Amino acid sequence: MQIKKVGVIGCGLMGHGIVQVAAQGGFQVVAFEADAGALQKGLGRIEGSLSKLAGKNVEKGKMTEDQAAEWVRTTRAQIHGSTDMADLKDCDLVVEAIIENLEIKKSLFGELGQLVKDSAIFASNTSSFPIREMAQASGRPDRFVGLHFFNPVQLMRLVEVVRTDKTQPEVFDAARRFGEACGKTAVACKDTPGFVVNRLLVPYMVQAILMLDRGDASKEDIDAAMQFGCGYPMGPLTLTDYVGLDTTLAILEGWVENYPDEPAFKIPASLREKVRAGKLGRKTGEGYYKWEGDKKQ
Ligand SMILES: NC(=O)c1ccc[n+]([C@@H]2O[C@H](COP(=O)([O-])OP(=O)(O)OC[C@H]3O[C@@H](n4cnc5c(N)ncnc54)[C@H](O)[C@@H]3O)[C@@H](O)[C@H]2O)c1
Repeated sequence: MQIKKVGVIGCGLMGHGIVQVAAQGGFQVVAFEADAGALQKGLGRIEGSLSKLAGKNVEKGKMTEDQAAEWVRTTRAQIHGSTDMADLKDCDLVVEAIIENLEIKKSLFGELGQLVKDSAIFASNTSSFPIREMAQASGRPDRFVGLHFFNPVQLMRLVEVVRTDKTQPEVFDAARRFGEACGKTAVACKDTPGFVVNRLLVPYMVQAILMLDRGDASKEDIDAAMQFGCGYPMGPLTLTDYVGLDTTLAILEGWVENYPDEPAFKIPASLREKVRAGKLGRKTGEGYYKWEGDKKQ
């Protein structure tokens, strides 16, 4: 099963990065957005990112100016932007990276199942929904995987490749090879909540919030403890502010609803209160910390 042509649906924060790493990996890519403005914005981000990367390669002496310009040109030429879904028909792999809404994703995969050639593989980049539900909606559950990239896609070196009970082994292998060709370390995971990374990370953030809520330690000391005691780039409360309190709460609500007996899935009271008050983290200027742009106050 050889993947040559890849469709990416949604050219936002994650989608534009997936388009770029796939093009860098040598795949022909159709970048699809329903909205022309959003498509132009996504393609513009890719062009900016490719130029920046080329500049860095020149600085490091890995490429001459001419080689860098040629690399940007050939990589960009691999990408075809489109607002016409019919352009996805003959893709070998279609990766969905639209907004995190299960009903919209299911309806999109229903449509794709009718449109895209039968041999194509479908993948979702969802962070929180069961892959099997979208796989069922697509009408081809045996040819469906999760491909969970990390933000920013161009820099983060991991992709989680998620299989359901119905995913054919050769489909899984082809998806894994695609992730590796995009320059990522690919890890395999079953279709379980949060896959590997978020299943470990979100309960860790929850425990930090619960410590703060109980008054066991201050937010600054909890963060310093994990940053300097474990060598993490930032502490858990700063991380929660970066991820967004609303995103964190939405993930937890889904898990608590589906797995009420799992003790690791808890919703701290302060998380609910802050979201209710519109304190969503760095993006709104306040979460567990106050923020001015990228700087904690
Ligand atoms: N943001 C993260 O850190 C992160 C990390 C891993 C996975 N994810 C997952 O990736 C997916 C995308 O997240 P994002 O942060 O890139 O969101 P985003 O809002 O930045 O981008 C979504 C894009 O999809 C487009 N879109 C929406 N509906 C569409 C449709 N029907 N057809 C075509 N395009 C459509 C929007 O115009 C937008 O450009 C979500 O499932 C999210 O859970 C996000």
